[in-house]
Amino acid sequence: MFNDTSSPLTLLATRRSGKPRDLVAPGPAADQLEAMIAIAARTPDHGKLAPWRFVIVPDDQRDRFAETITTAYLAERPEAGRLELESLDQFAHQAPALIVMLSSPRPESHIPLWEQELSAGAACMNLLHAAHAMGFAAGWLTGWASYSDAVRDAFGAAPERIVGFVFIGTPAKQLEERPRPDLGKIISIWNG
Ligand SMILES: Cc1cc2nc3c(=O)[nH]c(=O)nc-3n(C[C@H](O)[C@H](O)[C@H](O)COP(=O)(O)O)c2cc1C
Repeated sequence: MFNDTSSPLTLLATRRSGKPRDLVAPGPAADQLEAMIAIAARTPDHGKLAPWRFVIVPDDQRDRFAETITTAYLAERPEAGRLELESLDQFAHQAPALIVMLSSPRPESHIPLWEQELSAGAACMNLLHAAHAMGFAAGWLTGWASYSDAVRDAFGAAPERIVGFVFIGTPAKQLEERPRPDLGKIISIWNG
């Protein structure tokens, strides 16, 4: 059904996430990252609040990122073992590009927080689509680091929250499809 690979519908129908640990070079250049973010920022947003931000973590900051999450982790779990610390280091260094997506709600606004956070999730999804349309794969991870206040404080300030760490690059091997929801279970026709 979606054979024309240049068609927007094919792009939407074939996008899937890449596992960040399997994403390799080439990654997006700086201007490509900016173009992806410009696309992601075209997201429905009740009240024109732009309640989200994108923080690019450049190559020369990956060591610092690893240090930040490791310090935060050790503060919470001083008994952490070698394997846990290695996994944090791997997390911080995987994939050629990293964008930390933040929800930046305006508490003073009459727009409900829920709607502002929905918009942040939608912007993150748009970022994944933009990466795919530009020929890359992206993976949206949360995990322990995204719920740590200390890690959040390294990128923003309360009430901001980390929506996710979006890793972008080229899949080292062909991405396999994964099971998709049974449409019969998620679509219904309302009948009063
Ligand atoms: C908010 C959010 C957080 C996620 N966090 C993780 C995570 O920490 N670890 C993980 O393995 N997958 C996580 N995932 C799932 C991956 O992004 C997964 O690869 C994706 O759902 C695959 O589906 P897709 O191919 O349709 O994109 C998360 C997904 C979302 C929406």
